[in-house]
Amino acid sequence: EVIEAAGTVLLPGFVDMHTHLREPGREDAETVRSGSAAAARGGYTAVFAMANTEPVADTAVVTDHVYAQGQAVGLVDVHPVGAVTKGLAGAELAEMGVMAASSAAVRLFSDDGHCVADPLIMRRALEYARGLDVLIAQHAEEPRLTEGAVAHEGPTAARLGLAGWPRAAEESIVIRDALLARDAGARVHICHASTAGTVELIRWAKDQGIAITAEVTPHHLMLDDARLESYDGIFRVNPPLREESDTRALRAALADGVVDCVATDHAPHAAQDKCCEFSQARPGMLGLETALGVVAQTMVAPGLIDWRGVADVMSVRPAQITGLPDHGRPIEVGETANLTVVDPDSAWTVRGAELASIADNTPYEDLTLPARVRATLLRGRVTCVDGKVRAR
Ligand code: DOR
Ligand code: ZN
Ligand code: ZN
Repeated sequence: EVIEAAGTVLLPGFVDMHTHLREPGREDAETVRSGSAAAARGGYTAVFAMANTEPVADTAVVTDHVYAQGQAVGLVDVHPVGAVTKGLAGAELAEMGVMAASSAAVRLFSDDGHCVADPLIMRRALEYARGLDVLIAQHAEEPRLTEGAVAHEGPTAARLGLAGWPRAAEESIVIRDALLARDAGARVHICHASTAGTVELIRWAKDQGIAITAEVTPHHLMLDDARLESYDGIFRVNPPLREESDTRALRAALADGVVDCVATDHAPHAAQDKCCEFSQARPGMLGLETALGVVAQTMVAPGLIDWRGVADVMSVRPAQITGLPDHGRPIEVGETANLTVVDPDSAWTVRGAELASIADNTPYEDLTLPARVRATLLRGRVTCVDGKVRAR
């Protein structure tokens, strides 16, 4: 097969550390099959499927099911995330070991909700994770400070009469877990960093030699709380869209490596859960199919990173952090490679109805993005070309 690739950029296949595929439990929003198609269209060859399914992925029964579904669909490597687990009692930590040793070889864990809120449990989980050589991802939300919150606590929320989620709810957990990781000699990964303060705390922790890594979502790079004027539930997400100064700090942090990578936090919700008044909507946005375009717009177009930088933040770093041996590195001669072919100068307009996800609501509706994925190859096999997904 010949893919016309003149004028394109060849990148290592993208790795998404943070995808909600909703299966099992909310197949009206996404399934492993539909989410895998969205991933292939977005240029991804590996995704980590978050644990807050129904039932929660806190047993190998669930993680093995998600893994097997991903294998059966065959469009992207689906790596299930295991829950550090419900109630997080000591005995349940053992289930982490079972999941890590299972056929799915779970290497990334989070809480079921997905914040590990209790510091004692986080401490024990970090110690256990170090022993298992797996990574814990932290959603970084102090629930006592976010009860009832729907929007970033600031002037916009005050004016619109929306209950606010303070920066401290995120930042207090980031610094807490940096210190717990230091003491445990363990690694910790911060999900969806969203404030300028979080950036400074991660910078500090890295300077101390703490094994902390962090991701930023496309929506926190692009969007801020000015969008909430419309009261449109499409813009509700956790952590909330912050202020413009935060988006600037996050872009700079991604450019200089304080924030390691981009992760989508692709979080599909059915229409009835999103197309409603802001405070009633469920938090979460689609992300897999628009991530590359948003990164091109927010990072490449203003000259903050070049295409080599895109390879770093969307493939090399997440592959290193999660320990994927066949992603994000130079290809050997004769190897069946994981590749993403990007057209850097092909603007396209986002239409939710054209996306592969079951949910079709997107915060980028009608927005024109500057770059698109031409083709995706998983171990040498074309999984998507010009938006057309190739099932095996
Ligand atoms: O916006 C979000 N959606 N944030 C989360 O933390 C969870 C996610 C979801 O599962 O819908
Ligand atoms: Zn989260
Ligand atoms: Zn999430």
